[in-house]
Amino acid sequence: MFRRHRRLRENPVIREMVRETFLHPSDFIYPIFVVEGENIKKEISSLPNNYHYSVDMLEGAIAEIKEAGVKSVLIFGLPGYKDECATSAFEENGIVQKAIKKIKKICPDMYIITDVCMCEYTSHGHCGILHDHGVDNDETLEYIAKIALSHAQAGADMVAPSDMMDGRILAIREALDENGFKNVPIMAYSAKYCSAFYGPFREAADSAPKSGDRKSYQMDPSNVREAMLEIEDDIDEGADIIMVKPALPYLDVIRAARDRYDVPMAAYNVSGEYAMVKAAAQAGLINEKAIVLELLTSIKRAGAKMIITYHALDACRWLREE
Ligand code: PBG
Repeated sequence: MFRRHRRLRENPVIREMVRETFLHPSDFIYPIFVVEGENIKKEISSLPNNYHYSVDMLEGAIAEIKEAGVKSVLIFGLPGYKDECATSAFEENGIVQKAIKKIKKICPDMYIITDVCMCEYTSHGHCGILHDHGVDNDETLEYIAKIALSHAQAGADMVAPSDMMDGRILAIREALDENGFKNVPIMAYSAKYCSAFYGPFREAADSAPKSGDRKSYQMDPSNVREAMLEIEDDIDEGADIIMVKPALPYLDVIRAARDRYDVPMAAYNVSGEYAMVKAAAQAGLINEKAIVLELLTSIKRAGAKMIITYHALDACRWLREE
């Protein structure tokens, strides 16, 4: 006797009945890039079909995002100027702060998450305060907390620190709580690896380090146990949601975290993962829709509930066609 597995694959109804993993529009968070200036909607060459928007052009962008069925965005800003300590990241009228206010005006129920980091705003391109010996962890914490607070003050629904300094979740939690933002959640880029897959993003966000690399703060791609420690500390410090980033080359890390921790988990399907799929699709080598839905399903199957992805709008549209 052998088991007839094919019985439950006979037609779409039974296949759906036994299906274990479903993608849903509520899973997706769509990254957007906001720039200073006016009348700008410019395609990002390293991220096809994604754009740099000036604040006055966000109306069209938000309408399209809503229309696709995506309910949440992750904002990245390209500031008007950069300095040693990322001043433009925490100004009341900084680019992200202006974008938050504008989006809340256009669409109050669009859920706004902000990336909290210094690398787009520092002249040296590192994610913190730079001294001779490298990025100073504890000094950076004050700035990270200030940036997160300024986002909450502008109206962000959630903040997402991506700098990988130690102690940042606690620093941000304290700053938010002391200033009346007890209910603003923190999504921690907990296990953020030092990855070559961020290449296209650094071009899009103009955030590549001018010298050196990020190996002294982002994680070594070889390590999974260390990721569990990072996640545990972030949960202890008050993270509401944990994240693994990148997603596809790190599905084992997502699975390990899912098995071990019960807090909601996000995965960031990063720019390099997106760019590779787009290049293959443009070369006519793959069926883009099928590949994207399969990849996103694999991230969810590995254990992430939320997926930050540049495919979000397409994925939502395709799911509706299914
Ligand atoms: C900022 C940040 C990065 C990404 C998200 N936030 C770049 C980096 O750490 O170098 C990468 C996102 C992507 O590649 O899509 N620190």
